[in-house]
Amino acid sequence: MIKVAILGATGYTALELLKILLRHPEVEIVAATSRQEGSPPVSSVHPSLFGRIDLALEDLSPEEVGRRAACVFSCLPHCASAEIIPRVLAAGAKVVDFSADYRLDDPATYLEWYGHQHPDPSRLGQTAYGLPELFRDQIRSADLVANPGCYSTSAIVPLAPLVKSGWFELDDIIIDSKSGVSGAGRQPKMMTHFPECNESMSAYNVGRHRHTPEIEQVIARWAGVAPRVIFTPQLAPMDRGILSTIYIKPRRVVSDAEVLGLLRDAYAGERFVRVVDHLPGTKDTVDTNFCDVTARVVRGRVLLISCLDNLVKGAAGAAVQNFNCLFGLPESTGML
Ligand SMILES: NC(=O)c1ccc[n+]([C@@H]2O[C@H](COP(=O)([O-])OP(=O)(O)OC[C@H]3O[C@@H](n4cnc5c(N)ncnc54)[C@H](OP(=O)(O)O)[C@@H]3O)[C@@H](O)[C@H]2O)c1
Repeated sequence: MIKVAILGATGYTALELLKILLRHPEVEIVAATSRQEGSPPVSSVHPSLFGRIDLALEDLSPEEVGRRAACVFSCLPHCASAEIIPRVLAAGAKVVDFSADYRLDDPATYLEWYGHQHPDPSRLGQTAYGLPELFRDQIRSADLVANPGCYSTSAIVPLAPLVKSGWFELDDIIIDSKSGVSGAGRQPKMMTHFPECNESMSAYNVGRHRHTPEIEQVIARWAGVAPRVIFTPQLAPMDRGILSTIYIKPRRVVSDAEVLGLLRDAYAGERFVRVVDHLPGTKDTVDTNFCDVTARVVRGRVLLISCLDNLVKGAAGAAVQNFNCLFGLPESTGML
């Protein structure tokens, strides 16, 4: 059995991770940390786990976590994660980081979008980006994997085959995304307060959402030029799920069948990306590690439509896929 630990085990993504890991045949959960909950049973914080896990929360040092576990999942907020991860790595564990701390290659870009100096800048640009469908080889040989942002996965998965084809303009990509409220985490905020968000939809962080430079960086790896992305996130009155509609201009006339063909060729054999003919909805992927994608050509533009569960393919499911890559296990172990 592979010993694993979870940092920030009281949060939403950690709960999803615990649910998957409890089904994983090769995993033993040896530690689950919290700074402020004391040391109650994990199931007292996550009642849906009652009777399924016999483990108490602990406030452990990063060194102790890294000594106990072969792999540590960091479900901490950005900045907090990069303060702790170097000490976990130094203790000998591999790490899958849920936060944004190791996704960007450039410390200056991190400073620009996150508003503070990166605590561990030397690892930026050296860390595997945790989207196995696209970066499997780098993940397999890594010690530290940066799980992608949930919106980023919903955009990059459908865009990647189109960008690689060379058939599309990259200076005018529009990404319009709706997310369920769990995307904002468990910490209460005005925007996610029930009377504020129930029966209402609103855009937020227009022109300045932090997944924008992440999406541009990944696209630039294949494009060779910096793409220009306008990304508009919106909060939808649902618990979980992301629906993204992406608009991209082809350089020549293309058909639905050609674009769907690009997607199907790219993801043939990929368990967790489903290229579908119908228009997918968030309910099709809730509680699963699937990202569903389709395409339509409308008035000369290509529309890509994708959906996924922000807490699973957007977070915990992707993390377990990455864990399976890191430890040489079949990628779907523990999942559908
Ligand atoms: N929610 C999503 O859909 C989603 C998707 C993809 C990625 N992510 C990323 O995954 C990470 C976790 O997200 P989440 O939604 O699970 O957040 P969350 O529900 O707010 O949980 C984060 C946990 O981290 C701990 N924590 C908070 N501040 C801390 C600090 N300064 N130092 C140490 N521990 C701290 C808290 O536990 P204690 O207070 O008990 O210590 C908290 O339960 C974030 O980086 C987020 O950006 C989230």
